[in-house]
Amino acid sequence: MKKLMAANWKMYKLAGEAGDTAAALRAALDGKLPADREVLVIPPFTALGPTRQALAGAAGFALGAQNFYPSRQGAFTGEIAPDMLLDAGCRYALAGHSERRHILGEDDAVVGRKVAFGLAAGLSMILCVGEKIEERQAGEVEAVVSRQLEAGLAGVPTDVSAETLAIAYEPVWAIGTGLTAGPAEVAEAHAVVRARLVARFGPENGAKIRILYGGSVKPGNAGEILGIDNVDGVLVGGASLEAESFAAIVTA
Ligand code: PGA
Repeated sequence: MKKLMAANWKMYKLAGEAGDTAAALRAALDGKLPADREVLVIPPFTALGPTRQALAGAAGFALGAQNFYPSRQGAFTGEIAPDMLLDAGCRYALAGHSERRHILGEDDAVVGRKVAFGLAAGLSMILCVGEKIEERQAGEVEAVVSRQLEAGLAGVPTDVSAETLAIAYEPVWAIGTGLTAGPAEVAEAHAVVRARLVARFGPENGAKIRILYGGSVKPGNAGEILGIDNVDGVLVGGASLEAESFAAIVTA
């Protein structure tokens, strides 16, 4: 399966800027996108339209959403449904990003509902997991990641199609801080995730599901990170906001 190179634009960029950045990214990668890589752009909701337009017809590019509410439709003021995202051109969505867990108060159960609901609705889901610094210092990385995976994947059928599910391991202390987990730390955490996937989905399917790394990925460290065992892509925040920098990561 292709490596998934995801740009999470978080709460940055007005619609026009997002369209411009997406167009610049497309131009920067024109003829240079490695055949084994898929680019995923995840803008804020209000920028989905222009981002979609800028990427229309570009082979190897996909659009994603940062969040949704796990219901088809209804009286949920301020929320957005998977069908609306599909309608807006999204193929992927995130669930369980640490900013949603730790700033917006989403717990493991809500994250699990989103993953199961999104998949059933036809979105490909990226479940984010990762420990806080105090959990790492207490030697709890495996316990935290395993708990988040178990709850996050609880409603996912064991015969899920591996292309439609990915895990992003993002140590909370490495997100937006400039700190990156070292190769040994990444390898160790990704091995834990892989073992859980194999236990949950069987050796064949569990081996195929992509595991992305996220947390201060930059053009200068992307190549090394992508070379680590069980790293099947990256989820990039800050360094994805500029087309040139993200293009350098995609081709690293
Ligand atoms: P960062 O964010 O690359 O800015 O550390 C990663 C993420 O939150 O997905």
